[in-house]
Amino acid sequence: MSTPIAFTLRVNGKHYAIRTPARRNLADALREDCGLTGTHLGCEHGVCGACTVLVDGKPVRACLMFAVQAQGKEVRTVEGLADGENFHPLQQAFWEHHGLQCGFCTPGFLMLAAGVLEAEPDIGDEELKQVLSSNLCRCTGYQNILKAVRAAAAEMRKRAK
Ligand code: FES
Ligand code: FES
Repeated sequence: MSTPIAFTLRVNGKHYAIRTPARRNLADALREDCGLTGTHLGCEHGVCGACTVLVDGKPVRACLMFAVQAQGKEVRTVEGLADGENFHPLQQAFWEHHGLQCGFCTPGFLMLAAGVLEAEPDIGDEELKQVLSSNLCRCTGYQNILKAVRAAAAEMRKRAK
């Protein structure tokens, strides 16, 4: 068994001092060492995207990154998306447009979409479809996810004006 190492993760603006094996992936560290279970694990080998979080603003498969590699970086998870009691526009739009059913894939889709829309608010529809196709959903048929992300993009652009 590998010897635990001590380091700090900064997640949603908060510091978590953890002691964990060097080979622990970021998704497990978020869930088990930081208690942030909103990040889900599906395939655990980079295919499904359920574990998507933002690292320095970029969507990352947290099952493919060692937790220790996130030292000194800003990690954002679904727990940090809402502004207090107020849903993030993406959360609101997923709710309004039925972008989820069982909800297992939802944190990954939300963080993927948040990263993409923050970096590219005017992303074209074809490109958006391409990006969202990187995550898997076994319930919705994707159309409502797409509708929700389009609606959130419009709302985010409106708020940015
Ligand atoms: S759990 Fe990470 S991509 Fe599936
Ligand atoms: S809502 Fe069930 S897997 Fe996507």
